[in-house]
Amino acid sequence: MFAGKKILVGVTGGIAAYKAAEMISRLRKQHAEVHVAMTKAATEFIAPLTLQSLAANPVHVELFEEPKLWNVEHISLAEYIDAVVVAPATANILTKMAIGLADDFLSTVLLATRVPIFVAPAMNHAMYHHPATQANLAILKERGIYVLGPNTGFQACGTDGDGRMSEPVEIVEALARFFVSRDWLKGKRVLVTAGGTQEPLDPVRYLGNRSSGRMGYAIAQALQETGAETILLSAPTDLPTPSGVTRISVQTALEMYDAVLARFLEVDVVVMAAAVADYRPAVQAEQKIKKDGTNCTLELVPNPDILAELGRRKTTQILIGFAAETENLLANAQSKMQRKNVNLIVANDVTKPGAGFGCTTNIVSFLFPDGRKIDFPQLSKLEVGRLLVRELTSLLEVEIKE
Ligand code: CTP
Repeated sequence: MFAGKKILVGVTGGIAAYKAAEMISRLRKQHAEVHVAMTKAATEFIAPLTLQSLAANPVHVELFEEPKLWNVEHISLAEYIDAVVVAPATANILTKMAIGLADDFLSTVLLATRVPIFVAPAMNHAMYHHPATQANLAILKERGIYVLGPNTGFQACGTDGDGRMSEPVEIVEALARFFVSRDWLKGKRVLVTAGGTQEPLDPVRYLGNRSSGRMGYAIAQALQETGAETILLSAPTDLPTPSGVTRISVQTALEMYDAVLARFLEVDVVVMAAAVADYRPAVQAEQKIKKDGTNCTLELVPNPDILAELGRRKTTQILIGFAAETENLLANAQSKMQRKNVNLIVANDVTKPGAGFGCTTNIVSFLFPDGRKIDFPQLSKLEVGRLLVRELTSLLEVEIKE
């Protein structure tokens, strides 16, 4: 099941740490390459030598220990692995992950890595239900971290309740399902556009929009997770490129138009998540425009509509568009879907709290040309990306094996 997969097992200091031994052993039996990072507290519960022997790899505890395999180990390991699973995950590590604290080997890798992360919380039920822990878990889920369990039952502190770590077999099954599902779109090439284009006025100014690029980046990550060859054509953003994704940077709508059209025949799918400027200044001044105290009028000329052009040219390609609206959401989205000849349009009302520009979450509906409509609650942009990938698999008539 895990042949060729490199999994980092993070073990933190809870009584369930002993269960990490069984989990590692199960992963190894299914041919995973296992690396282990333990917190200092975890070493009080189970000896590193036990986990090292089961993993057949050195166990990392200290950030500044003698390098065992790599030069800057926490960075190279963060880039080397395919997934991390933290089991047991104490309330403490969940808090550190939520705030981005990196004060030991494991928490530093967790901050440095861009690969999928799974956590299996394990703690006393009162700690689990504490609003701080629940808020941290909500933050982690919103970032796309997979939370496994916890289970309910007898706890080491002598009480019954939620907070027992999921069983090793359940955790390994969840990882296996994830890796199997990763290959749905293997062999498919997908182009995703993201961010807001910038239309220069002069060397220091441009016309832009409020798009952060987060939605497109999340879609690119979700596509990459399912094995698609993913090209991210990005307008300027501050976001890191998801690992395994090829990023091409553009600034203006015209540059994006050229870059998309140049690749259109080579791809199976285009997802136009970018907020493309509909107009650009008629002239771009060579020098900084000086004020003279009087009114100033800008002349704008229309940019090409990239998606509409793709809709005219498409043969077998699947086209996915977005409709960012401030009123008449469904009517506007439906008319865009028809005008641009797309297979699916993602409609969102950007005025709703928790949706649209700059947010890490979105509230969307998927509309299809046959009249189908699926409404979703507020979800993280990564979850929206993953749901979009599911729809894409059926549009591509790819079978999902679960
Ligand atoms: N789009 C595009 N090229 C443009 C404008 C938009 O490819 N010049 C794409 C967007 O990436 C999105 C979809 O078309 O997938 C709808 O974009 P949106 O800005 O919501 O709509 P517009 O077509 O620009 O219409 P309007 O601004 O009138 O709402």
